[in-house]
Amino acid sequence: MQNDLFAGNAGPQAGREQESLPDLAQRLRRELTQHGYNYYTLDAPTIPDAEYDKLFQQLQALEAQYPELKTTDSPTLRVGGMILPEFSQVQHAVAMLSLNNGFEDDDVIAFDRRAREGLEIIDQDIEYAIDLKFDGLAINLRYVNGVFTQAATRGDGYTGEDVTENIRTIRSLPLRLRCEKPPAILDVRGEVLMFKADFDKLNQRQRDLGAKEFANPRNAAAGSLRQLDSKITAQRSLRFFAYGIGLLEDADLPTSHRALLDWYQSMGIPTCEEKAVVNGAPALLDFYRRIQEKRAQLPYEIDGVVYKVNRFDQQATLGFVSRAPRFAIAHKFPAEEALTTVLDIEVQVGRTGAITPVARLAPVFVGGVTVTNATLHNEEEIQRKDVRVGDTVIVRRAGDVIPEVVASVLEKRPEQTSVFVLPKQCPICGSDIVKLEDEAIARCSGGWIKCAAQRKGGLFHFASRKALNIEGLGEQLIEQLVDKNVVTTAADFYKLGLMALAELDRMAEKSAQNVLDALEASKSTTLPRFIYALGIRHVGESTAKDLALTFADMEALMAATEEQLLQVNDVGPVVAQSIIRFFADPFNVELVRQLIASGIHWPVIEKMDLSTAIFAGKTLVLTGTLPTLSREQAGALIEKNGGKVAGSVSKKTSYVVAGEDAGSKLLKARELGVTVLSEEELLALCNAQ
Ligand code: IVH
Repeated sequence: MQNDLFAGNAGPQAGREQESLPDLAQRLRRELTQHGYNYYTLDAPTIPDAEYDKLFQQLQALEAQYPELKTTDSPTLRVGGMILPEFSQVQHAVAMLSLNNGFEDDDVIAFDRRAREGLEIIDQDIEYAIDLKFDGLAINLRYVNGVFTQAATRGDGYTGEDVTENIRTIRSLPLRLRCEKPPAILDVRGEVLMFKADFDKLNQRQRDLGAKEFANPRNAAAGSLRQLDSKITAQRSLRFFAYGIGLLEDADLPTSHRALLDWYQSMGIPTCEEKAVVNGAPALLDFYRRIQEKRAQLPYEIDGVVYKVNRFDQQATLGFVSRAPRFAIAHKFPAEEALTTVLDIEVQVGRTGAITPVARLAPVFVGGVTVTNATLHNEEEIQRKDVRVGDTVIVRRAGDVIPEVVASVLEKRPEQTSVFVLPKQCPICGSDIVKLEDEAIARCSGGWIKCAAQRKGGLFHFASRKALNIEGLGEQLIEQLVDKNVVTTAADFYKLGLMALAELDRMAEKSAQNVLDALEASKSTTLPRFIYALGIRHVGESTAKDLALTFADMEALMAATEEQLLQVNDVGPVVAQSIIRFFADPFNVELVRQLIASGIHWPVIEKMDLSTAIFAGKTLVLTGTLPTLSREQAGALIEKNGGKVAGSVSKKTSYVVAGEDAGSKLLKARELGVTVLSEEELLALCNAQ
């Protein structure tokens, strides 16, 4: 066969003389596989998506015309196809067992003690490998001579279901291992899961189609994996992380869990970046707490971490007890979801007048605390979910996020419930509740002057930590001050006297004096804080910072034209209009003047044009310990020079600033080809401005 039909097609090697069709097919497969690897594993694509699609379509066309050119590792098989009548059963060569769970520190300490006893090394620390406990589905992938041939669910641990065609659609999984001499048989074990962003997109699509939404990413992953039509699975963006091994033939088993994961990674099998090898139980607990803090920021859901004795010889010595290993334990986080009943549905009015329906709940312990209220977000959401008083609902509290009602359990709905209807009038001030055309949110039309709820919200925002940070001036105190008409605007805070404060409930002279001291201290602030504190719609912390650096003083900001505002980093027409509207109101201008007159001041800001600053539009990541600057100082320097500081390295990172003991972020930067700067280089770049 000669490549006449497909001659001259795009691709880096295009235009070469007389490439045979089998060679062309192989080249396309190789290029597509490499691009897939760059994209999914290295997170560093080297060609635009459209270019990838073009190569893909070429290979598809070629295979359609010459079916004999098809191979089992062709990326074209990832789009799915065959519709199965049912899943066939697969016997696992090595059983897929489960893990024992621990919830408390003591469970972990006891596990470590038992392991040391079992290994007869009571006085020594054990080396542990720590993985995340992914909230997905366990799966076994079989590679025969390096080629992906079968995937099976865990099932009862001994027999699972054949989901090969569905797993083949997972683009981050290699269909052929990147390895010179692959094992005759390799059973890779790991978890199939859906990333949070893909879950949100899927549910949005389900909503658009009027189809049922999934309650969480795990259910979505399970539902997607159990599709008999793999074309549907192909549209669902599933992922995979490896964490174990089953059968291995004709290859040496690595000597530890960590070495196994490194081996997988080298062959292109995805493993999770968040992992560690540590010695002794206290280090396990440290890791647990660090991950718990990071949990909400992770792109996928986890329900704990898994500690495994790292060395395989030690794992073998410890062995199994009934269906779980003695060498591993899952340290779980407190459950984030629980069932309870809705006692009532009320609406709350926020500082911008936004009306939020809130469910009053029978108290329930979830996410580590007792929850009695949960947000229902807005009218659209409550109607879509059709949550009613009397319903049994799933409540979710993830990390520090406000508890929310996920869904009603319809099977448990009592008779005679009624659909919730949003009130027409604000429950606080009686003004009409209105809904602007371009917004999903209903708002009280009373504004600051009429609506005490909006006033309280605005005042609370003014005093909050990221604004003027007035300690002791909390929600309850503000509530009283507004209800008693002592305070109407933020400027009134600074007119408060000792007696007026000391008279309030739960206040005494001492606490009143503390509040006055905090008010006095808050007068020394920064311009970004002051701008943020005003509570201008759409002006968050970061925009306030950019505005302060661009305009450098309040008068200039108050007089800014739309054109000038649009020059500011991240300020678009909506934000610009909102700022102009705010300062067009004489009431707000007067408020600013009064606040400044009461003594609020800030250090002079050197005005700078952020769009020409050295790091304008750039994102930097700090890692390791820098020789002289603290994290905060380095971050402030970067921001002062127009840059943003991010927590993790991705293809969008412009520079990584690395100090001593820089870890995985530095490795990732090298892998992605991101420029790495030392502290000295960072300082030099900033001074060169
Ligand atoms: S190791 C012999 N590691 O947890 C035990 N399991 O209760 C092998 N899981 O069904 C399991 N993340 O679905 C292991 N990093 C991890 C895991 C993990 C999630 C799940 C897995 C399994 C269950 C065990």
